[in-house]
Amino acid sequence: MEERIKQIRETFSTLDPKDLQSVEKIRVEYLGRNGYLTKLFDDFKNIPNEKKKEVGKILNQLKSEITDKIETWKNVFSESTKPKGTNLDLSLEEYPFEFGTRHPISLVKNELVEIFKYLGFTVYEGPEIEDDWHVFSALNFPEEHPARDMQDTFFIEKKPDILLRTHTSSVQVRSMEKEKLPIRVICPGRVFRNEAISARAHCIFHQIEGLYIDKDVSFADLKQTLLYFAKEMFGSETKIRLRPSYFPFTEPSAEMDVSCKLCGGKGCSVCKYTGWLEVLGCGMVDPNVLELNGIDSKIYSGFAFGMGLERIAMLKYQVRDLRLYFENDVRFLKQFKNY
Ligand code: PHE
Repeated sequence: MEERIKQIRETFSTLDPKDLQSVEKIRVEYLGRNGYLTKLFDDFKNIPNEKKKEVGKILNQLKSEITDKIETWKNVFSESTKPKGTNLDLSLEEYPFEFGTRHPISLVKNELVEIFKYLGFTVYEGPEIEDDWHVFSALNFPEEHPARDMQDTFFIEKKPDILLRTHTSSVQVRSMEKEKLPIRVICPGRVFRNEAISARAHCIFHQIEGLYIDKDVSFADLKQTLLYFAKEMFGSETKIRLRPSYFPFTEPSAEMDVSCKLCGGKGCSVCKYTGWLEVLGCGMVDPNVLELNGIDSKIYSGFAFGMGLERIAMLKYQVRDLRLYFENDVRFLKQFKNY
């Protein structure tokens, strides 16, 4: 008996089936009703009792070896290696897969949020469809201001006026309405102006505006905040300069330039040989605006600033045509992979 077990094991070990059919043949030959193993188990009944334990053990072992091997062959050749219910061919090579990249406007926005977060500013957001009060009246725009004209603003309805916001200063008004003082917010968002589309202008663009209202806020605070922002954004060598300007909601008002990074201030085609690049508008919140929004201008003062994200991204990444931001051409977008 032991001799036969040995023989069967040896012959079995030489088998090398090449397809499912031959595996099935082997299975019938060894484990089938008249198979070698079945016969061995029949004969097992007749061996002396004292030998049963030992022989039973090797017999069972052989059976499980053969069963396992047949199972493995079946798996190798069988269709069942494919996941059930699909026609996926897992042996195919993977499809070339590329990660997307962040849009330059999102990159600049995220960076700005991080910079101002460090100074204690939190993000405040508001609606793109606004009323006259939040975009113009609460910001001290006179009745006859040209921005209120159809030529400059997209109106959805007239009287009462419903319009697409032309700046995110409207969100600052909302923060003054809702929040307790002191207020320190930055308002990123999309804005709309009725302008002809060109390399330098678009009817849709993005802004971030900041507002800080507290006791004893001074122009020096504004200047220091903006200097910090400029150095963080454009590099520690960056210088700033403020030029007097005018906005209905700030007094005094200024426009800020940063020194041109490309030529280091010597003058080049990017800065039009001035050494400076215009970046943002800013100023001390006009006391009228504070009063219009229920804030006592004798106790509180504040500063505000606002900038176009497309402009910042243009300066930072040397993009020369604003329209590229909106075309979603992957050849353009892919260039921002490493930022
Ligand atoms: N709201 C102004 C604009 O859209 C920018 C600005 C904001 C200027 C705050 C001064 C203070 O151009």
